[in-house]
Amino acid sequence: MNKKYIVANWKNHPQTWAEAEQILDFVDEYLGSLNEKEFSLVFCPPFVFLEEVDKILRTSHFEHEASLGAQDIFWEDTGADTGEISGPMLRKLGVRYVIIGHSERRWKLGESDEIVNKKLKAALRNEIIPIVCLGERVRDENFKEFLKEQVKKTFAGLNRDELEKCIMAYEPVWAISTSPNARPDTPASALESIAIIRETLTVNCKLETINLPPFLYGGSVTSKNVADFIGQKEINGVLVGGASVNKEEFVKILSLVK
Ligand code: PGA
Repeated sequence: MNKKYIVANWKNHPQTWAEAEQILDFVDEYLGSLNEKEFSLVFCPPFVFLEEVDKILRTSHFEHEASLGAQDIFWEDTGADTGEISGPMLRKLGVRYVIIGHSERRWKLGESDEIVNKKLKAALRNEIIPIVCLGERVRDENFKEFLKEQVKKTFAGLNRDELEKCIMAYEPVWAISTSPNARPDTPASALESIAIIRETLTVNCKLETINLPPFLYGGSVTSKNVADFIGQKEINGVLVGGASVNKEEFVKILSLVK
């Protein structure tokens, strides 16, 4: 059986390396207590901690169990792009995954589908696995159309081989813990959206049903609801934001992945 992905998106946290180390030490101790691990871990810390997190992931119980991810990538590999971090730089730091098109970047920072598409291509060009975030802003009568359009534009120009290298993350914006009045989605409605995304990928992007990439759910995942999402065969893991920097809560989530 394929292991479930647990992706920790630390966002702009924690504020110090000492706190980051405490989270990792706590998770490491938990991993040490397990015989079998039912999950593959990906830690996506802020850029400033990538190098140090990588050193820790290469040692102790994390070795072979956890990978390093970045929260963003720039679309050019080199150039006069003040403030940006390129794919080759990330690769040199040991980054294997990158979150692309997170709703906080799409909506707070104005990243368009076209920008997301360019970043996706940059990740693939640099052999970094993209974790591509997709999701509607509001679940109104147009949400299906919205999702279809987002999928078509996000993956425009990608061939089948490239699509198969991606991990899809369905993250409805209204369910992200920091959104106003956030509430987690239900597994049933998440599955409905995942089905729309899958259909658009197979019909419009010509992806073979048999080779569909893994799908994650994200949005207010906690120890209270993780089992409900992970228990669905169409959901191959979760993207955890706020709860991933609370070490006790994060370990509780891991303990519920079966
Ligand atoms: P959340 O964030 O778990 O805090 O809702 C998820 C995400 O933004 O990736």
